[in-house]
Amino acid sequence: MNILLTGGAGYIGSHVALSLLDNGHKVHIIDDLSTGNINLIPNNANFTECNVNEVGKISEIIKKNKFDALMHFAGFIKVEESVKYPEKYFYNNTKNSITLFNTCKDNNLNKIIFSSTASAYGNSKKNIVTENDKLYPQNPYAESKIKTEEYLMLHKEHFKFIILRYFNVAGADEKLRSGQVSKKSTHLIKILSEVAVGKKNIIEVYGSNYNTPDGTAIRDYIHVSDLADIHLEVTKYLLEYSKSDLFNCGYGKGFSVLDVINKANEIYQNKIKFSFSQKRDGDVEKLVSDISKLQKNIKWEPKYNDLAKIIKSSVNWEKKVNEQNF
Ligand SMILES: NC(=O)c1ccc[n+]([C@@H]2O[C@H](COP(=O)([O-])OP(=O)(O)OC[C@H]3O[C@@H](n4cnc5c(N)ncnc54)[C@H](O)[C@@H]3O)[C@@H](O)[C@H]2O)c1
Repeated sequence: MNILLTGGAGYIGSHVALSLLDNGHKVHIIDDLSTGNINLIPNNANFTECNVNEVGKISEIIKKNKFDALMHFAGFIKVEESVKYPEKYFYNNTKNSITLFNTCKDNNLNKIIFSSTASAYGNSKKNIVTENDKLYPQNPYAESKIKTEEYLMLHKEHFKFIILRYFNVAGADEKLRSGQVSKKSTHLIKILSEVAVGKKNIIEVYGSNYNTPDGTAIRDYIHVSDLADIHLEVTKYLLEYSKSDLFNCGYGKGFSVLDVINKANEIYQNKIKFSFSQKRDGDVEKLVSDISKLQKNIKWEPKYNDLAKIIKSSVNWEKKVNEQNF
């Protein structure tokens, strides 16, 4: 396959680029490096530094290459920031995505894999959510993603697409070629890794009185390299059946914040200190995926479905980030 991939200097896009290249496919990355890091771009990928809304530049790239599909990861991802600056999120995540999709369409590239988010389900009353469940977004970030999904769904005559709603993505490439580098990440396992390597003293646990067994919020953590493999398989599915679809991406299993911290403390001899603070705006109590649709349609066997493996890969990556001063 030959893939045009946006956001390849970011966490998930770089892992998918690695997975594509490892499996003998070609990839051309577009990234404006606004939140990404150039060191995450695989050496053997083609790279153009530009914004996804640059119609002229991207049209030229598409004309010069014979891409099979667009994988669109580029976007802003911080929930709290989106609550503060909603317009920033609608502009980049929705408007810029639509511009990009139309640039692709105008240059005869109409197959799209789009990164969406489980936070679209928001405060669903259901414990385990399926793709058909009603959406209750709790913040502008989730809304900006839903609006982009809706655009694709409303333009089915122009695009063949797969929308992937990721649950909580964590961990790092086992060869430590990529991982999360974002300095102000709000992701639990990233922060825990920073504490494990001594970069931070403590994890703040937001909320201790959720209606869950231990009072902390529950999430479905999926290893980024398993998520990357899903992308390869759904692209093959899209190219073979030319059928638009939407899939949840998780493991279908929930862990509370304290489950994750306790597991890390088993591994790292109680090094992970934490304290409780107020719930954050826009956070939800429990979000776990039903992945039966993905499993029924897509050939995918997870390789890292184990909380300890996810935590260890993330901490090992954090050590490397520390040593190499990313
Ligand atoms: N990380 C998660 O847990 C998670 C969960 C659900 C969904 N997602 C979605 O997955 C995608 C990738 O997330 P990530 O964690 O890799 O984020 P990231 O911030 O690490 O990567 C995003 C990349 O996109 C680039 N970018 C942003 N806006 C751009 C633009 N207009 N033009 C060109 N490049 C631009 C950034 O420079 C960065 O390299 C996002 O769309 C996000 O909404 C992520």
